Amino acid sequence: MKAVVLVGGEGTRLRPLTETVPKPLLPILNRPFLHRVLDHLAQHGVHEVITSSSYLERSFAAFIAERHGDPRITWITEREPLGTGGAIVNALPRVDGTFLVLNGDILTDLELTELVRFHERQGAVATIALHRVEDARPFGLVAADAQGRVLEFREKPGEPIPGDINAGTYVLEPEAFEGWEPGRAISIEREIFPALIDRGAPVYSFPSGAYWIDLGTPQNYLRAHFDVLEGKLSGMQVPAPYRAQTAVVDLEARLGRWVVLGEHAVVRAGAEIEDSVLLDGVTVEEGARVGESIVGPGAVIGSGATVVGAVLAEGARVDGTAQFDADRISAGGTAPPKPD
Ligand code: GTP
Repeated sequence: MKAVVLVGGEGTRLRPLTETVPKPLLPILNRPFLHRVLDHLAQHGVHEVITSSSYLERSFAAFIAERHGDPRITWITEREPLGTGGAIVNALPRVDGTFLVLNGDILTDLELTELVRFHERQGAVATIALHRVEDARPFGLVAADAQGRVLEFREKPGEPIPGDINAGTYVLEPEAFEGWEPGRAISIEREIFPALIDRGAPVYSFPSGAYWIDLGTPQNYLRAHFDVLEGKLSGMQVPAPYRAQTAVVDLEARLGRWVVLGEHAVVRAGAEIEDSVLLDGVTVEEGARVGESIVGPGAVIGSGATVVGAVLAEGARVDGTAQFDADRISAGGTAPPKPD
């Protein structure tokens, strides 16, 4: 079976980090996340992946050139962003029969083999994996009958109610896309699935208790790391804090338990780091404090600076006297002005 992996989003919620690194290539434990998605597919017998992105295409080319082995990656051109549905329609000529689709920004240990079996047993044209959340406000909900047949997609609720959300993993038949023209932007969630349901096509849902997180926000990107450090994801056991072998930490620096340091990161004496992910080549100078932040590759945090709740771009420089709190800091090192 083949899979289409959706990697073409701009990752606006993770800016400015995603201005230079596409979201699926941001690291999880110092390894581009897309490796994990591809390894997960290979474990479930997928040997060919079709993928495309009009955003930062060159970064993907470099990733593909470096990655070897299973599954084979077929890159296709997506000149303009085609949306989740349009990207799949664009990939259809490469697909032969039933196929999987995965959002390229979901960390999960979902049992893909079981999902495919369920799809086949139901004779579905589309099967949507579901994830149960306690507070469904940020998500739309999927309503299904007792056999799992999807009845409708509901808008984001106003109240913090529990519910089943679309987990961004699907099994699909090519016929689900009949009538959708190639080359135009389409959303699978908002257009294709509702149209299938309206015409009475068998669209099923597959509830799962697997670990699941969407890496698309700074909070979730950090949470995913903390969960892995706590051993919540099967097959990923690592020490906490987690330091790349080439990272250098002064004996008089302090690292909290929920910290990840990338390759060649340097943490100098008196610096304190807590609840943060520092990507490759970051330097934290003497006495600086970093908390609840994502620090982009090669960024420098000057001595005595405080950075809390921030997202720093690749190459950002934070001045030694700066006190950043909940800011997005671009490569120039300045934070957006605060409202009075
Ligand atoms: P935000 O801008 O922060 O919402 O992130 P995003 O652009 O990644 O959007 P979203 O998280 O809703 O996208 C879900 C999945 O679809 C992600 O894996 C995206 O990479 C992917 N995706 C979104 N839009 C496109 C597109 O136009 N083309 C392709 N190929 N993939 C897309």
